[in-house]
Amino acid sequence: MKNKINEIKKRALEEIGKAKTFEAVEALRVKYSGRKSELTNVLRGLKDLSPKERKEIGELSNHTKQIIESELDKKELKIKNEELSHIDKKEKIDVTYPGKKTAKGHLHPLTQVRYAIEAIFKSMGFLVVEDREVEDEFHNFDAMNMPRNHPARDMQDTFWLKNGCVPRTHTSSVQARFMEKNKPPFRIISLGRVYRNENTDATHESNFHQTEGLIVDKSGKVTVANAKSIISEFMKGLFGESTKIRLRPSYFPFVEPGFEFDASCPYCKGEGCRICKKTGWIELGGAGMVNQNVFTSVGFNEDKYEGFAFGFGIERLAMIKYGIDDIRLFHAGDLRFLQQF
Ligand code: PHE
Repeated sequence: MKNKINEIKKRALEEIGKAKTFEAVEALRVKYSGRKSELTNVLRGLKDLSPKERKEIGELSNHTKQIIESELDKKELKIKNEELSHIDKKEKIDVTYPGKKTAKGHLHPLTQVRYAIEAIFKSMGFLVVEDREVEDEFHNFDAMNMPRNHPARDMQDTFWLKNGCVPRTHTSSVQARFMEKNKPPFRIISLGRVYRNENTDATHESNFHQTEGLIVDKSGKVTVANAKSIISEFMKGLFGESTKIRLRPSYFPFVEPGFEFDASCPYCKGEGCRICKKTGWIELGGAGMVNQNVFTSVGFNEDKYEGFAFGFGIERLAMIKYGIDDIRLFHAGDLRFLQQF
């Protein structure tokens, strides 16, 4: 019996030594220390022994059981520790490591300028309105005193759609749309995309943004002087208090008289530099008293109202404000450019 017990012990310790998983240790526990273990089986024969032998074998088997159990426990702990150290390596957390910075977006430079334009005009009582980008011929051209075959249509290279509509060539179309639905007096601005069938270069894009302004009131209430002061306030708001403006006679079919307006160069303050091509002035947009033909085309009685309109490119303003020398950068989606604003 002694030999049998020692043999079980030897085998048990060998197998425990080889066990590599929890499951294996658990199976050995059942095999060598459970109620149905081999050792328990051997002890069944105790009753046939003399009291002296019984005591001896009893002690030996208890001792053996203890050794086996303690080896099983040790092995279990070892496996547990190994697994933990594994997890430790895989999921090591360094609490002193700086956190990941979340990338924060911001408004596109054109949107920033757009919001600045809106804020300045709102402070002067203007209403901001919007309208469609795909226009019919009437609102883009005819209503703006450019009937078919009018040579001025050539001033704006146009994309024509199959149905005779156009991606609007200017935001002036919003003038006609607004006046069809609203009676003067009003002062509005409208900002949005316009399209020209042009080759692109550093100062031209086939798709860019304009701001249109329109003030209409009863005849005699709106003058070029009002308009000049409004444009002047706007330019001061955008480029600084010392900015001056000037109007030069020019032609647009929807205004009479018509002007182009320039602002004093915000870089050299009128001294003459690279940005203003040494002239001290930067050309920014068109303006003029609304042509009476525009009023009649939207159903207003001739000479009942007078108004002033102006329009300018938003990209151009942004380029001057931020010193950007290529209009194509705005839509190129290059983060190195966008992150500077
Ligand atoms: N619509 C003109 C353009 O795109 C600008 C303009 C608007 C001129 C209003 C005068 C008055 O060139």
